[in-house]
Amino acid sequence: MSQNGVAPHRGKVLTAETMNPNIRRVEYAVRGPIVQRAVEIEKELKEGVKKPFSEVIRANIGDAHAMGQRPITFLRQVLALCSYPELLSDKQFPEDAKQRARRILQGCGGGSIGAYSASQGLECVRQDVARYIEHRDGGIPSDPNNIYLSTGASDAIVTMLKLLVSGVGASRTGVLIPIPQYPLYSAALAELGAVQVGYYLNEESCWSLDTQELHRALSQARQHCQPRVLCIINPGNPTGQVQSRKCIEDVIRFAAEEKLFLMADEVYQDNVYAPGCEFHSFKKVLCEMGPKFSDTVELASFHSTSKCYMGECGFRGGYMEVLNLDPEVKAQLTKLVSVRLCPPVPGQALLDLVVNPPQQDEPSHAQFIKERSAVLLSLGERARLAEELLNAVPGISCNPVQGAMYCFPRITLPPRALQQAQSQGQAPDMFYCMRLLEETGICLVPGSGFGQREGTYHFRMTILPPTEKLKVLLSKLRDFHQRFTTEFS
Ligand SMILES: Cc1ncc(COP(=O)(O)O)c(C=O)c1O
Repeated sequence: MSQNGVAPHRGKVLTAETMNPNIRRVEYAVRGPIVQRAVEIEKELKEGVKKPFSEVIRANIGDAHAMGQRPITFLRQVLALCSYPELLSDKQFPEDAKQRARRILQGCGGGSIGAYSASQGLECVRQDVARYIEHRDGGIPSDPNNIYLSTGASDAIVTMLKLLVSGVGASRTGVLIPIPQYPLYSAALAELGAVQVGYYLNEESCWSLDTQELHRALSQARQHCQPRVLCIINPGNPTGQVQSRKCIEDVIRFAAEEKLFLMADEVYQDNVYAPGCEFHSFKKVLCEMGPKFSDTVELASFHSTSKCYMGECGFRGGYMEVLNLDPEVKAQLTKLVSVRLCPPVPGQALLDLVVNPPQQDEPSHAQFIKERSAVLLSLGERARLAEELLNAVPGISCNPVQGAMYCFPRITLPPRALQQAQSQGQAPDMFYCMRLLEETGICLVPGSGFGQREGTYHFRMTILPPTEKLKVLLSKLRDFHQRFTTEFS
């Protein structure tokens, strides 16, 4: 009350004008307007609204379980035991699952996964992660003290960027990211007020990365910011490419020459399908290039429980390994993660099983291998199916899906469709994807949400729908594309 007894008019403190402007600049297409409309359509279908289709087919997000993939038995058995230790006396659970659960519980405060853990993550899990990396990289040592467990890979990526971004004006940190990119990167950079520096992947040669393009992007960026970071996604999202060893070596040489901090997003490291393609970790290649590189180039690499054969994204498990980090910065990193206490302990437990799965002489080994291989084989089949059927449609061309969980085909849109999109204030591929959703129930993400060369149009589609559903999706998409092209020709 004011002195004269009249309540002063008081607007809201937090308004669109007063809020953090960086947040307003954040965009995340994977859950953007198309997905919001898909949710509405699902509701309308439930309410009995008549549509030319009976269900929404979601191929917009890399969420394997949401698309029907079953969890790997061993992972869930150990998680069940960790969550409810009374089950440790249940004869239904195999001995190796019980051993893993006991080890994890021993590492937890009060023997419960309900307790906070150390901020860097449970020590026993970090040890297992380090052993996993050593094994993966042919014996190159990994130090558990360089491992930070995280809330999915997203959290670790953002944490690392927070440390890297500084300066104002022309000294503001520039971060090189691929175009097309996974929009976590553009969103995090917008939020942190960093300068996004895009380098284009080469669609004509299977979304490869060439260092000439890196040089171009870097020298342009140096005119207005201070590029300090180079982000790589391998295998690629949304583009599905797997980088060759030679390419990785070139990138490392480039980072060393130009003094850039490397961030290697390797969350799809088990998702490699194409013959002749192989996953090479940046850490391994860096170490094999000799001390000139392995003692100097600063690297953070990221992995996650969300992808690969397990697809356990709801558990939010992940880790980051850092190399050649300045000890003072490392202390700051440890401080920074401690502010948020710790990543979810169930996610840490799950990560432990991913990096330390059943061994050959253990009772769960055979079933584990059977389930894991079935998922990866099926993903490989769907990758080939998507590429083949998409390329059979006139006006759509798709690079081989060498890895990850997505294809990013290019679509040819008639000029009248471009005009129509413009008149509605929409990006042409948003217009296309919205029409596709309304007419067929297929939910994809427009290429514009990931970035693409000016004048080219794409969409991102996951290969996660079960094979039969994927075939239905692809045949509906073919018919739609033909109808759309005819309508606007
Ligand atoms: C390339 C890439 N990095 C990071 C993430 C985030 O994964 P997480 O669930 O571990 O946070 C994703 C998720 O789709 C991704 O595709």
